[in-house]
Amino acid sequence: MGQLIAGNWKMNGLLAEAMALAKAIANGAGGLACDLLVCPPATVIRPVGGALAGTPVAVGGQDCHAAVKGAHTGDLAAAMLRDAGACWVILGHSERRTDHGETDAQVAAKVAAAVAAGLTPIVCVGETEAERLAGRQEAVVGTQLAGSLPGDFAGVVAYEPVWAIGTGRTPTEADVAAMHVFIRAVLLRRLGPSGQAVRILYGGSVNPGNAVALMGLPEVGGALVGGASLVAANFLEIARAAR
Ligand code: PGA
Repeated sequence: MGQLIAGNWKMNGLLAEAMALAKAIANGAGGLACDLLVCPPATVIRPVGGALAGTPVAVGGQDCHAAVKGAHTGDLAAAMLRDAGACWVILGHSERRTDHGETDAQVAAKVAAAVAAGLTPIVCVGETEAERLAGRQEAVVGTQLAGSLPGDFAGVVAYEPVWAIGTGRTPTEADVAAMHVFIRAVLLRRLGPSGQAVRILYGGSVNPGNAVALMGLPEVGGALVGGASLVAANFLEIARAAR
């Protein structure tokens, strides 16, 4: 399986700029070895998906509700993302966990809803800086994985140390590799042999300058890219670093 390079546009992109970005990415996406995904704001999933139809770039959402439908003002059901043209959804991003108090149990419920609606979930885990300084990063990520992933999980995991997101700082290559090897072991214990098929993305200040080194590390199955995914040339350069 090739690596997956996923762009998390977060709360960026009015229609005109989202369309320009999508088209610029599509123009450079031919002949790449990796899988490509963009996750724009939900308001532009449908037009961005239209612009990317027939290209190798897939479209996803950034969150969904656990319920199928109902009285949840402002929320989006997984089936609504699917209906808008998304095939993937990011779940449990640290900004959701922090800004909206999402728990592992809520993330697990969202994973089930996403899968039921035909979306492939990308489940984010990662420690805070205080937790890493205390040497607790594996305990924290292990707990998040245990609480967020169903026993039959078949999506993607993204390791995103909270302190590396949007800061320009990344763990050392040895620390990224160690965490990815740890996550793989957890997945194999939890899921059996199918745990081998789960891609483990690294996310947190991935940029064209560090992508080759990060994408070459053991058990790194791709990248979840925030800031650098908003500039087509940077996102494509990261994609060219992938295998
Ligand atoms: P960043 O964000 O690349 O801007 O650090 C990554 C993410 O939050 O997914």
